[in-house]
Amino acid sequence: MSFVAINVLTVPPDMRETLERRFAARAGEIDRTDGFEAFELLRPVTGQDSYLVYTRWDSRDSFESWMASDAFTKGHAQAGAHGPAATGASVWTFEVAERKERV
Ligand code: HEM
Repeated sequence: MSFVAINVLTVPPDMRETLERRFAARAGEIDRTDGFEAFELLRPVTGQDSYLVYTRWDSRDSFESWMASDAFTKGHAQAGAHGPAATGASVWTFEVAERKERV
């Protein structure tokens, strides 16, 4: 069963551009990680101050292995080197109960 982990980032208006620039230059390490299925950076449009970083995996184990890996550290090098663009972060996790994707 697929597993979804969403990082909820609180981003002040003056840091949005910085955050999006960092993601545009992201390492791409996750793309090559075992069990990785999908990633999306979701920009808020109706007044919220939270961006969602959506990730989907083939299992919870794959997500937890990535979190503990060098790939995760490399994937956060910019945030580590220059300080976070976000003022807060929390992780929501889900099992995919049902899915339909039109291809
Ligand atoms: C304090 C917690 C976190 C903050 C402030 C944060 C912020 C960021 C930022 C600014 C980037 C842009 C790339 C860079 O910094 O080099 C990034 C990359 C990324 N983050 Fe996070 N992040 C956090 C934790 C997490 C967690 C728990 C997840 C999983 C749900 C996640 C998912 C991702 C993904 C998928 C990328 C792209 C990595 C790649 O391309 O290899 N982040 N994050």
